[in-house]
Amino acid sequence: MPAEPADPIDLSQLLSIDDFEDVARARLTPMAYQYYRGGAGAERTLDGNRAAFARFCIYYRVLVDVAQRELATTVLGADVAMPILVAPTAYHRMAHLDGELATARGAADAGTLFTASTLSTTPLEEIAAASAGPKWFQLYVHKDHGLTRSLVERAVQAGYRALVLTVDAPLLGRRLADLRQGFALPPGLVMANFMNGMEPGGASVLGESDLARRIAQRHDAALTWRDLEWLRSLSNLPLVVKGIVRPDDAQRAVQHGAAGIIVSNHGGRQLDGSPATIDALPAIVDAVQERCEVFLDGGIRWGSDVLIALGLGARAVLVGRPVLWGLAAGGQAGVARVLSLLRDDLSDALALAGVPRVRDMPRDLVHRRP
Ligand code: FNR
Repeated sequence: MPAEPADPIDLSQLLSIDDFEDVARARLTPMAYQYYRGGAGAERTLDGNRAAFARFCIYYRVLVDVAQRELATTVLGADVAMPILVAPTAYHRMAHLDGELATARGAADAGTLFTASTLSTTPLEEIAAASAGPKWFQLYVHKDHGLTRSLVERAVQAGYRALVLTVDAPLLGRRLADLRQGFALPPGLVMANFMNGMEPGGASVLGESDLARRIAQRHDAALTWRDLEWLRSLSNLPLVVKGIVRPDDAQRAVQHGAAGIIVSNHGGRQLDGSPATIDALPAIVDAVQERCEVFLDGGIRWGSDVLIALGLGARAVLVGRPVLWGLAAGGQAGVARVLSLLRDDLSDALALAGVPRVRDMPRDLVHRRP
């Protein structure tokens, strides 16, 4: 069953993303918590994403008028109140009965953009209708190209503003926490975008992950750059390529018409040993030379992390797990609170760094630690 609503907690007492994670851990089943938290293999990349921010310093400026700060920006032409967006993550109804509806509404309350995953537990049409906020649709390309085409058509019809093509998951990373627990969707929850929302989760088998099995069966591991032309021909939606860590791949994405790229290693859940995203960002920004918008996700937990990413040339960042912790802790209000916590922390960091407007980010602010 989906998580039952627990006693409401005083969200104002939670002052950091880690505080939210503590509450989420206590509320979720061990299977759900470990699925959300975990990474692949030895979890070096999972840990590395966060740890890498400590290798950068913000050389703050002083005596700049920072009495008013402006965090608003645009992402592929959509107005957002802050450069912090919601990354696509699967299975929100494991965290809260209202699932993706609560997450989409919480994101809209915070004035930002929500990315709906192909692997949602609520149909993409219902997510689109849940709030007026801007949304992108994250796409996994299936071996069944008819199914892929229908997902794209449905996303267009429902009003999503971009397709986020995830390219770092030809198969699922080996996530030991899930294998140990025999991860499967709890009874009562469905992969709501398939088979008219009727597809149930599989049985839980220790040593196996039902999600890994389904992805191996269905996702198109033969996908290549050439298929991007086909994908682009399916709709007029701008394409954002998610899961890039190399400058040459970033250039290829631009050559194939991507409007944006997300520097991402899937939150350390795919190839363990891949670089921390913040380490990969500068070379990619250089390679792209403003021919498309560059975003970053992975390990963002503080306003200063966001500032470091923006200082190194990201247009905005996305957050995955923090939003799930907010959802588990307090549904829509919990998601909105997590996002406003990050926004306020970024606003303070901007003031202290002498940067009043995120759109006028100096390129000499952030440097690798000497
Ligand atoms: C993900 N992520 C992900 N990405 C994607 O493209 N499609 C998906 O369905 C999912 N599902 C998913 C589930 C869970 C539980 C997590 C934690 C992550 C990856 C996600 O979009 C993003 O890249 C990372 O979450 C960013 O790292 P942080 O913010 O969680 O550290």
